[in-house]
Amino acid sequence: MNTTIQRWLVAVMLALVGMVASVHAADVDPREEIEAVLDKKFSDGKYSRQGADGCMRCHDDQSEKPATGIFDNIHGMAANKHGPMSDRQCEACHGPADNHPRNPRRGQMREPMITFGPDSPVSSEKQNSVCLSCHTDSSRSAWHSSEHAFEDLSCSSCHKVHQKDDPMMTPKLQVETCTSCHSKTKSDLHKRTSHPILNGDMQCSSCHDPHQTVNEYSLNFSSINETCYDCHAEKRGPFLWEHEPVTEDCTLCHNPHGSINSGMLDKRLPQLCQDCHKVPHANVDIPENDLRVRGGSCMNCHNQVHGSNHPRGSALRY
Ligand code: HEC
Ligand code: HEC
Ligand code: HEC
Ligand code: HEC
Ligand code: HEC
Ligand code: HEC
Ligand code: HEC
Ligand code: HEC
Ligand code: HEC
Ligand code: HEC
Repeated sequence: MNTTIQRWLVAVMLALVGMVASVHAADVDPREEIEAVLDKKFSDGKYSRQGADGCMRCHDDQSEKPATGIFDNIHGMAANKHGPMSDRQCEACHGPADNHPRNPRRGQMREPMITFGPDSPVSSEKQNSVCLSCHTDSSRSAWHSSEHAFEDLSCSSCHKVHQKDDPMMTPKLQVETCTSCHSKTKSDLHKRTSHPILNGDMQCSSCHDPHQTVNEYSLNFSSINETCYDCHAEKRGPFLWEHEPVTEDCTLCHNPHGSINSGMLDKRLPQLCQDCHKVPHANVDIPENDLRVRGGSCMNCHNQVHGSNHPRGSALRY
């Protein structure tokens, strides 16, 4: 908590300096105005005494903005020692109530509360600092260097806390959320061959950790191949006869999101092979009309394309 308060204090001071400087500006952005009020409320720190009970007077199922969903969620469980309900409750996330529960009909001003998501007037960085004040584990601490933080995503672009199951913990919902932004990946998933993602057996987080980019492409492991070996261990070798592109990068031949070709291959056989082996068989006499060649696939003979341990496997045929 204290670290959030410190962050917000700094933010408030910066905001105040900004306000003094812009006092004569003709148009004040209403979003900035709300943010300034929220900053002030946060630094005043006037939390309510009733906690969640007080909020539920107005935010029950009958209200315009119901909040009951939180009690089905892990964050709404009082038994959770480090959770919000054991401490400031709703205000742990939405900030101090202060004058929020006022009645405008009696001419009183209702102060805003901190809100989350893309439509919130609060910047993503400040929204996220609320979540990150509790979520300090190693994956989350790398958040600030991630592509998604760089793109100004908020935690609640992906996570939802006012419902029973977080969409990120439910394979199908996770994939739907990710592909709502990543449309190229979405179309790949629907091609002829793909990982079993659409049926829910796998999900984006089987390979990616969207909170960080310590690893390239935010992958779960230090390289593309290490990520693939996690499930396809037999492809790791070591092989007596290696095939160079395989040890270098599986995606030289495969698109892990899906492809119109068999086996998620980037290109059709034998085109795939011929792109690198322009004139194979310079020293080998294979009759042009050999059925296996005419069959179109180099794999008819070179069937150990990922590497071979056979004493005579140098040409990946055994
Ligand atoms: C763990 C942090 C957290 C806690 C605790 C929490 N909320 Fe929320 N609240 C959020 C987030 C994040 C959203 C945005 C929707 C979502 O992600 O589920 C939200 C949305 C809302 C909204 C809708 C706001 C809008 O813009 O329409 C209301 C109202 C609300 N919360 C009230 C409450 C009340 C009342 C409590 C306590 C009973 C509470 N919240 C507890 C994080 C929290
Ligand atoms: C006296 C009634 C009342 C109480 C008590 C109350 N609220 Fe609200 N709250 C409202 C109303 C009405 C709105 C809708 C305001 C609007 O849309 O203009 C609202 C809106 C919100 C929003 C959406 C953001 C915003 O500022 O519009 C959040 C979040 C919220 N309340 C959280 C809380 C929390 C947390 C508590 C308890 C600390 C609480 N409220 C207590 C009446 C109340
Ligand atoms: C007051 C501390 C606190 C705050 C603030 C908080 N969380 Fe949590 N959160 C917890 C605790 C405790 C758990 C339970 C799991 C654990 O022990 O790590 C949890 C669990 C989660 C989980 C795992 C959910 C699951 O179903 O397993 C997600 C995702 C999450 N929080 C996201 C968020 C987001 C997003 C925010 C900001 C809107 C947020 N949290 C704010 C304390 C907090
Ligand atoms: C791009 C989408 C995305 C964003 C943005 C995002 N997360 Fe996550 N988060 C995920 C996914 C996917 C998982 C599930 C990972 C898994 O299955 O291990 C997850 C899991 C979690 C968990 C549970 C981890 C566990 O091991 O139980 C927590 C806590 C969490 N995220 C917090 C946050 C916080 C805090 C933020 C904002 C700083 C955030 N997330 C932003 C996608 C996201
Ligand atoms: C709100 C939109 C949004 C959502 C939701 C979202 N992303 Fe992203 N993501 C982006 C943007 C924007 C970028 C940066 C530009 C790009 O590469 O498309 C990005 C980049 C990435 C990258 C490349 C990162 C790198 O380090 O090179 C990966 C991988 C990724 N997202 C995976 C995911 C996964 C997995 C999910 C779901 C858990 C997800 N995204 C959800 C918007 C989103
Ligand atoms: C089997 C592992 C695997 C799964 C599952 C997976 N990815 Fe990837 N993804 C990769 C690899 C490897 C790369 C980097 C090489 C490449 O682009 O082919 C990558 C790259 C990306 C990129 C950045 C490059 C680009 O193509 O724009 C995005 C965005 C992305 N993945 C999103 C997703 C989303 C969304 C999902 C879930 C629908 C997902 N990925 C599922 C392995 C995977
Ligand atoms: C989380 C586990 C997991 C990871 C990580 C993973 N895969 Fe897979 N892969 C699978 C599963 C499951 C299948 C489907 C197996 C089946 O249907 O028998 C599969 C199938 C395949 C297939 C065969 C598809 C077909 O149509 O015959 C290829 C090629 C493949 N994966 C390549 C990769 C590559 C390249 C990577 C790394 C970018 C990777 N995989 C990472 C689990 C994984
Ligand atoms: C030189 C191109 C090439 C590279 C590089 C490559 N593969 Fe393959 N892979 C193939 C071909 C060709 C097939 C057969 C596809 C078909 O069914 O039509 C295949 C099939 C597969 C299959 C399904 C059949 C089987 O053998 O289990 C998996 C899984 C697979 N590859 C994983 C990987 C992994 C993991 C890597 C990286 C370590 C990798 N591949 C690198 C060309 C390649
Ligand atoms: C990305 C480029 C690339 C692709 C695609 C590729 N290869 Fe290779 N291949 C190489 C390299 C590099 C070597 C090792 C250097 C050499 O001897 O030419 C090699 C070696 C070989 C060898 C052993 C050569 C020897 O000297 O004994 C065979 C056989 C082979 N590849 C067959 C295939 C087949 C079949 C395919 C298609 C499934 C294929 N390659 C796809 C790059 C590639
Ligand atoms: C009828 C079986 C057969 C087919 C089909 C075949 N090859 Fe070969 N390939 C061989 C034989 C036999 C050798 C020599 C092996 C040896 O020296 O042990 C060879 C050697 C190679 C070599 C290494 C020596 C060299 O001359 O470069 C490469 C590379 C190669 N083939 C690539 C391919 C590619 C690419 C295709 C598909 C266009 C293909 N092969 C189709 C049988 C075949």
